[in-house]
Amino acid sequence: MSAEPCIILNNVSKRFYIQREQARRLSTVMVNLLRLRRPRARMPFIAVREVSFSISPGETVGIIGANGSGKSTLLKLIAGIYRPTAGSITVNRRLVGLLELGAGFNGELSGRENIFLNGSLLGRTRRQMQEQVDAIIDFAEIRDFIDTPLKHYSSGMKVRLGFAIAIHVDAEIMLLDEVLAVGDANFQQKCIARLEQFQAEGRTMILVSHATDLLIRLCRRAIWMQRGAVMADGATNEVAAAYSEFMKKLG
Ligand SMILES: Nc1ncnc2c1ncn2[C@@H]1O[C@H](COP(=O)(O)OP(=O)(O)O)[C@@H](O)[C@H]1O
Ligand SMILES: [Mg+2]
Repeated sequence: MSAEPCIILNNVSKRFYIQREQARRLSTVMVNLLRLRRPRARMPFIAVREVSFSISPGETVGIIGANGSGKSTLLKLIAGIYRPTAGSITVNRRLVGLLELGAGFNGELSGRENIFLNGSLLGRTRRQMQEQVDAIIDFAEIRDFIDTPLKHYSSGMKVRLGFAIAIHVDAEIMLLDEVLAVGDANFQQKCIARLEQFQAEGRTMILVSHATDLLIRLCRRAIWMQRGAVMADGATNEVAAAYSEFMKKLG
């Protein structure tokens, strides 16, 4: 039964450089003087720390963890948007779709134009998107607004459009970053039903969400991230329980 994994992370770390806390508090004149003396007042920050796991085709894996624990960075590494600072990542699939709210959208363009923009960011041709555009508009339930600039959309409308695009680009691996707990209840149910359909089709998904009940429903397996490292990787109900216990103790 054990298929070759389609995602393999081997000791993956990601380091960013962040502005020094000290420097930020100083006046800009001082900061500029400091910059003259020391051009790089930057501090290394490890956002993802020696992470190893593998995911098999058809698995749905949930990722939980506090804000800033490295969940989004991890998805961007898997999507190939970031390169790991150390370690290796193997993704054995042609098309990987990452959906996070607001990413890849341009407020000046209409909803329709944003569909094509997003499609091209996800590696789809204009013609491929043309075939899907009506299905996307219908799923998002925004036909009346589709030629209005996106900046006039409510956040709920943007969420619906983003989700509709993500599920229509036909990605073999879907990475969804905190897109499930938003939008109204009806739309959420529609999204969950669609994700369950993808599961039945054997697609691979990684869902980052704070909604642990939703993760327990959709994912047999979950990974808990804390300060960039994997704290637990196992049955979703157990990992979610350990996480909420940990968060309670923190305060
Ligand atoms: N491009 C970046 N440059 C510098 N620091 C970053 C960058 N992206 C994320 N970080 C930092 O890395 C940490 C992890 O961020 P992120 O992966 O977004 O966490 P999460 O999605 O779990 O909330 C945070 O402290 C964040 O500030
Ligand atoms: Mg995040």
